[in-house]
Amino acid sequence: MTPDLDQHLADAATAIAAAADLDALRIVDAELLGKQSVVTTARKALGAMDVEERKVAGRLLNEVRAGIQEQLEARRTELESAARSEQLESERLDLTELDRGRRLGHRHVVTRTWERLEDLFVGMGYTVSEGPEIEDEWHNFGALNFPPDHPARDMYDTLYVDHGEPGSTLLRTHTSPVQIRVMEAGGPPIYSIMPGRVFRSDTADSTHMPVFHQLEGLVVDRGITFGDLAGTLEAFTRAYFGGDFTSRLRPSYFPFTEPSAEFDIRRPDGTWLELGGCGMVHPNVLEACGLDPEEWSGFAFGFGLDRLALMRHGIDDLRELFRNDQRFLEQF
Ligand code: DAH
Repeated sequence: MTPDLDQHLADAATAIAAAADLDALRIVDAELLGKQSVVTTARKALGAMDVEERKVAGRLLNEVRAGIQEQLEARRTELESAARSEQLESERLDLTELDRGRRLGHRHVVTRTWERLEDLFVGMGYTVSEGPEIEDEWHNFGALNFPPDHPARDMYDTLYVDHGEPGSTLLRTHTSPVQIRVMEAGGPPIYSIMPGRVFRSDTADSTHMPVFHQLEGLVVDRGITFGDLAGTLEAFTRAYFGGDFTSRLRPSYFPFTEPSAEFDIRRPDGTWLELGGCGMVHPNVLEACGLDPEEWSGFAFGFGLDRLALMRHGIDDLRELFRNDQRFLEQF
């Protein structure tokens, strides 16, 4: 029995080394260790032996089996790594050899969403405004009627910048501070949108990113009402998503608006999706910008731009927008 198994082990090694890919190795595996294999057959024969003989033969058989398994495992690792290198090589993008005539790239899906929204609001008579990504505490919170130490500040996981007084400089947590800058820069009438990048110390998951984009809207004029806000958001919803979509407002709370609302859209299948926040600009905010609330009134709204892109294109993981995987981005 002994020479037999030695020979078998040697043959096994040859067969394993000869397996050219993982499929071939699976077949060799079944032949060497499966029901019909030499090892299994020999194990069955153990039953007919006497105790001492069985002990010796059994141990030997286990060693041979373990030897075969070890070789199979080693070859499997080798073939897997070869298969992976081959895949990487086949998917490699050689940007130096791009045929520019035929393979022109296109703008990122978030950029296109951004531009589409700008076009849409510009078409409704709005201007586009920008503000700094590194903000001071006053514009991000104070002027927006967040009292010092108010719990509403905790809703925003703020990333502070090591500059000036501790807590005085931060990465803006929303685009609402641009409202303040727009009001400071010039008086009403104001009809403006403020798209931009915002930051929160969130852990990335399928619905959160520490860096994302928002679009803010601000209207300040004489006699602006809540009805103007609702009508504007409804017009936006239909223009952006299509005539079979509609919108609704639900009571909510934001320090910088009174009353405040949550803005939802209804999809053609009847389901509602939360899109953003809105409300009538709080008199304290108008006053902080030197505007008389008796003379001027306005509304504001803000929503996540990336979420809009996800919804429009049926993407289910926010992180895909930031991974820069060409195979994903090419689809949009
Ligand atoms: N800034 C709010 C946020 O990031 C969103 C928001 C709510 C903006 C209401 C507004 C508004 O202009 O009126 O959660």
